[in-house]
Amino acid sequence: MRPIEELMRGKAAVVTGGNTGIGYGCAQAFVEAGMDVMIAARREDLGREAAARLTALGKGTCVFQPCDVSKPEQVKALVDAAVERFGRLDGMVNNAGYVPAHLDACDMSIESYQNVLACNLMGEFYGCKYAIPHLRKTKGAIVNMSSILARVGQEQTAGYSSTKGGIISLTQTLSIEEARHGVRVNAICPGHIVTDLFLNEMKKVADPEAYAQRCDHYSWLGRGGTPEEVGAAALFLLSPWAGYITGVALNVSGGMEFGTIPKYYAFDASAERMREDEAGSRS
Ligand SMILES: NC(=O)c1ccc[n+]([C@@H]2O[C@H](COP(=O)([O-])OP(=O)(O)OC[C@H]3O[C@@H](n4cnc5c(N)ncnc54)[C@H](OP(=O)(O)O)[C@@H]3O)[C@@H](O)[C@H]2O)c1
Repeated sequence: MRPIEELMRGKAAVVTGGNTGIGYGCAQAFVEAGMDVMIAARREDLGREAAARLTALGKGTCVFQPCDVSKPEQVKALVDAAVERFGRLDGMVNNAGYVPAHLDACDMSIESYQNVLACNLMGEFYGCKYAIPHLRKTKGAIVNMSSILARVGQEQTAGYSSTKGGIISLTQTLSIEEARHGVRVNAICPGHIVTDLFLNEMKKVADPEAYAQRCDHYSWLGRGGTPEEVGAAALFLLSPWAGYITGVALNVSGGMEFGTIPKYYAFDASAERMREDEAGSRS
């Protein structure tokens, strides 16, 4: 297999939520491989700065287009603008998303649930819907950003986790539909990745340092992942190196799904009870 840069140079992609965090990490990996990238998000100042920084790397070009992914007409305009600008579309990365306030489902407002669905899940659907006709022409690929929470669940994330589970189901269905057109559709399930999303979560807890340490230990690698590491996985999935991979949800999580969340999060109390019971039965 030829080097990935040789295979991807001159190809074009759209990355939603590309002005920061994981989306930026994806755009960086693509530009470093010589691709042309349109990043999209709502905060225009951050978007334009990010695009200028990536173009300055001197490999591929990066441009910014304002877009709110919860608005289908804006997602259509985004895809059309990328095709107009680059003359083609080879990759669509549906990544934009957010975490609403943590509440038990019974305390979550209907509006909050609907809003997170509109952005995280429906936004990714719009991206797929509008990109697919162009991707069929280039035999391109889609990467949808899910989350490890789609695999393991987490308390007080009913809305967010629903969207991330839905993204895996959407990905599987589209992978079947689009296989006959030569378009591959995959998802990524990031674990704990150090981005603004995580830093904002840190601000909400009583002891941010302890929270950060605990998050590092979610992963069996003992640290959070980086946006660049997710970007590398996205580049791989878009590329011919992944030519026989479709419909998968790839964990980029340092193995955190293997037991650490139950240990540190949901079942702390019941684990403590079990230890007490065990000690009691030995005495
Ligand atoms: N960090 C993690 O540990 C982690 C783990 C699992 C999954 N993920 C997923 O990875 C994706 C990226 O998250 P991140 O960690 O990189 O968070 P982040 O740094 O907060 O980035 C989120 C991005 O989404 C954009 N965005 C949010 N709402 C949008 C909307 N309505 N329309 C357009 N863009 C919107 C934001 O830009 P604007 O605010 O300017 O619009 C920003 O670019 C999300 O889907 C998240 O669920 C993250």
